[in-house]
Amino acid sequence: MMMSLKTAFLVSASAVLALEWSDGTGKLPALGWNSWNAYHCDINETRILDAANAIVKFGFKDAGYEYVNIDDCWSVKTGRDRRTQQLVPDPKRFPSGISGVANKIHALGLKIGIYSSAGTRTCAGYPASIGYESIDAATWAAWGIDYLKYDNCNVPSNWTDACNACVYNLNNPNNYVNGTCVNSGNYCPGGYDYTRSNSAKRYAIMRDALQAQNRTIQYALCSWGSAGVEQYGNATGNSWRMSDDIQDGFKYVTSILNMNSFNLNDVDFWGHPDADMLEVGNGGLSVAEERTHFAFWAAMKSPLLIGTNLYAASDEAKSILLNKYLLAFNQDNVYGAPAKPWKWGTNPDFTFNATNPAEFWSGESQQGTLVLMMNTLAVSRDMTANFGEIPSLDADGSYKVLDVWTGEDLGSITSSLTVKVASHDTAAFLFTSGLSQ
Ligand SMILES: *[C@@H]1O[C@H](CO)[C@@H](O)[C@H](O)[C@H]1NC(C)=O
Ligand SMILES: *[C@@H]1O[C@H](CO)[C@@H](O)[C@H](O)[C@H]1NC(C)=O
Ligand SMILES: *[C@@H]1O[C@H](CO)[C@@H](O)[C@H](O)[C@H]1NC(C)=O
Ligand SMILES: *[C@@H]1O[C@H](CO)[C@@H](O)[C@H](O)[C@H]1NC(C)=O
Repeated sequence: MMMSLKTAFLVSASAVLALEWSDGTGKLPALGWNSWNAYHCDINETRILDAANAIVKFGFKDAGYEYVNIDDCWSVKTGRDRRTQQLVPDPKRFPSGISGVANKIHALGLKIGIYSSAGTRTCAGYPASIGYESIDAATWAAWGIDYLKYDNCNVPSNWTDACNACVYNLNNPNNYVNGTCVNSGNYCPGGYDYTRSNSAKRYAIMRDALQAQNRTIQYALCSWGSAGVEQYGNATGNSWRMSDDIQDGFKYVTSILNMNSFNLNDVDFWGHPDADMLEVGNGGLSVAEERTHFAFWAAMKSPLLIGTNLYAASDEAKSILLNKYLLAFNQDNVYGAPAKPWKWGTNPDFTFNATNPAEFWSGESQQGTLVLMMNTLAVSRDMTANFGEIPSLDADGSYKVLDVWTGEDLGSITSSLTVKVASHDTAAFLFTSGLSQ
């Protein structure tokens, strides 16, 4: 049967529901670029199109990056069009309109994303979408939008939740003690059903509005890990932010990584906890720290949204973002599960620690077993992968080992691999059986 609508459908398999687009969009984590970490509110058409051109010019499109996402501050701030009630692109910043920019981005073979909030105003105070979901979804579809980041600012008082989950505060991670929220106001009793919360409803209204359009629009929830989003994220969107905003420093990388290391059972095809947009290239991380940031975001199967001006980013930063082995792991069409810790390392297993999270990780892929060893300490140290500790490897097996950063074939290795890892760096290898002996 031919279907004229590019429908998305909610698949119900026992208890799981997921937002699945019939063209396959959303099965794998999104790859692209977003304006916020690079420019915050200081965006315009030139900068967005420069980013799109850089994605083509520097090989990012060929590597699979496809979305060029406009974040907050794109519309006329004073309000909606009085007659149509539509959001209006700022004519100074976007003289071609968003649809004009969309046409140019589509002509490059890329896709375009837009931003709003499930509240009365966006986080930067621009008109937002609560109560206008159908109008806005139709407007974006008409403009050719392919992706929506939907934020959580300025929620009207009648839409707040009776009971709220802990919002993990990256600047004050002590509001979580051993994974349990403390001092967080109206914290819900264990076992609370967030699928019936007002937050779940607010985000579902936009999901339904997007699905009603004759267009695929990937749907990214941005409610900062609040209100039990892990309970309804899969049924509502293609990805959901699991923490508050990243900033350009290593403590944010380890803090989010730590938090997400306890969410990894929520990761599979069609639904991805979003560890937030990348800071690689922005200057606040050393090269070692950039490697760690990117390796883990890829390995956790987070959406990978570049957040830097690619014309200004170093060659090292660009090559990290283009690492073909890590991108292939993130985009594996056969293995939906992320890498997971096999051992915490500096701390006992399952220790919640925002500075020294789990250091020894592995995961399966079509390329073989990905093995990551991150040194969270301030000095370099030897780190050992004992094959017997890694779920998919045999204790006394021999494996062909490839260094993910250099592409170097290390030959066949038996039983264990010890390497020196610099402070805050991550050693990354792919293990396959047979082949080289
Ligand atoms: C949906 O969009 C396609 C083009 O993407 C078009 O061919 C089709 O006619 C549209 N269907 C409806 C019902 O508007
Ligand atoms: C966008 O901003 C940049 C940097 O300030 C500026 O050079 C450019 O002319 C601006 N473009 C538009 C369309 O305003
Ligand atoms: C909040 O108020 C608005 C406007 O009256 C209404 O449309 C909406 O349904 C209310 N929300 C809830 C959760 O009752
Ligand atoms: C999300 O839903 C999809 C489709 O039903 C399912 O394959 C996937 O395992 C679900 N994810 C989780 C974490 O349950």
